[in-house]
Amino acid sequence: MGKNYSPKSHKDLTWDYSDPVNGQTIPAPFFYDADIFEQEKERIFMECWHLVGHVNEFKEPGSFIVQDIFEQSVVVTNEKDGNIHAWHNVCRHRGNRLMNERRGKVGGVLRCPYHSWCYNLDGGLRAAPRTEHLDNFSKEDYSLRKVRMEIFAGWVFITLDEDAQPVAEMAAGAEEIMRKYMPDMDDVELVEETDVIVYANWKVIQENAVEGYHFDLSGPVHKDLAALIDFKGYTLTAYDKYWTYIGPPNKEVTHAYGLPLEGATWQTDSFFNIGLWPNTSFYSFPYTDMVGVFIMIPLTPEKSLLRFSYYAPKGREMPEVTKAAIEWMNKDLGPEDIVLNETNQKGLHSIGFGSGRYLIDDSIPNQSEHLVFNFHKLCYQAIRE
Ligand code: FES
Ligand SMILES: [Fe+2]
Repeated sequence: MGKNYSPKSHKDLTWDYSDPVNGQTIPAPFFYDADIFEQEKERIFMECWHLVGHVNEFKEPGSFIVQDIFEQSVVVTNEKDGNIHAWHNVCRHRGNRLMNERRGKVGGVLRCPYHSWCYNLDGGLRAAPRTEHLDNFSKEDYSLRKVRMEIFAGWVFITLDEDAQPVAEMAAGAEEIMRKYMPDMDDVELVEETDVIVYANWKVIQENAVEGYHFDLSGPVHKDLAALIDFKGYTLTAYDKYWTYIGPPNKEVTHAYGLPLEGATWQTDSFFNIGLWPNTSFYSFPYTDMVGVFIMIPLTPEKSLLRFSYYAPKGREMPEVTKAAIEWMNKDLGPEDIVLNETNQKGLHSIGFGSGRYLIDDSIPNQSEHLVFNFHKLCYQAIRE
């Protein structure tokens, strides 16, 4: 029995993170305990920024996107003047949810399907059938309630916390890095969005994303990815509330995602990833002309919604290699990681685990798990300090 093991650790909800190199990983209950999950909900997700989409998705008047945050729901709309607004997605009459699709376009009003109260795209109540004879009723009192929204690097974010630090402040310096690796980011449109349910805690998914240790040690698809990168140069960097992991291209490769690179075009030849606290990642695969978005949305302690979105430059034929990369992500790389996420989640319950050990090693920075530690620390501090 090693010193790591103590049956008591199964219930232990404190973590000493003072020595990541020699110390223990965050205790396993952080990945399934119901109280921890409630605390994360209140202190992380009710206070953080949530990515809704790209500003280009709001070019047409009446375009809307619905973003759910646990039982909260927000609808982001575009007014005729091009102003983007975010509203609590609820009718002020008797509380019916207003918009029930993820995305869409309305004529000029958001109409409640229950008693047909209709709201202008500036949130004002335009019509409320049969209220004309009500005493003390004024439509002005029943506008939609506003949600805080910010645009950062062309992306629309919302938060339920009035006091949240502005995105640009939280991610100071991030936009410059994003523009370097995703130069056409302003011109993109949404190509595809896929939601996948994963039976794992949201942090299990995030951990897997922020380390390269498993690349050439897990499944065959990961080895294909590692082969596209000059893995020695893989660099994982923690900033305050964001982190990057970037792999320069392996210039020797002639094929990617099963297709020849000859004649192909791309925005970036690097494997580029940037994660914004707590659960949004933007990325670009080597030799592709697209911007990927990867969000792990917690649903319950052991169930998450993984949202894969792909954006590509508007009005430009998507290169075959990029199409193949998207297919490869959806059918090969994503599923290979999801299997690991779910087997990891199961193992965390074992009384034979408790907590483990980070591989943090400056002599192999490309394989080091310092970003996993950094992420755990941010989560722990958010709920404990
Ligand atoms: S609840 Fe919306 S109109 Fe009645
Ligand atoms: Fe992976």
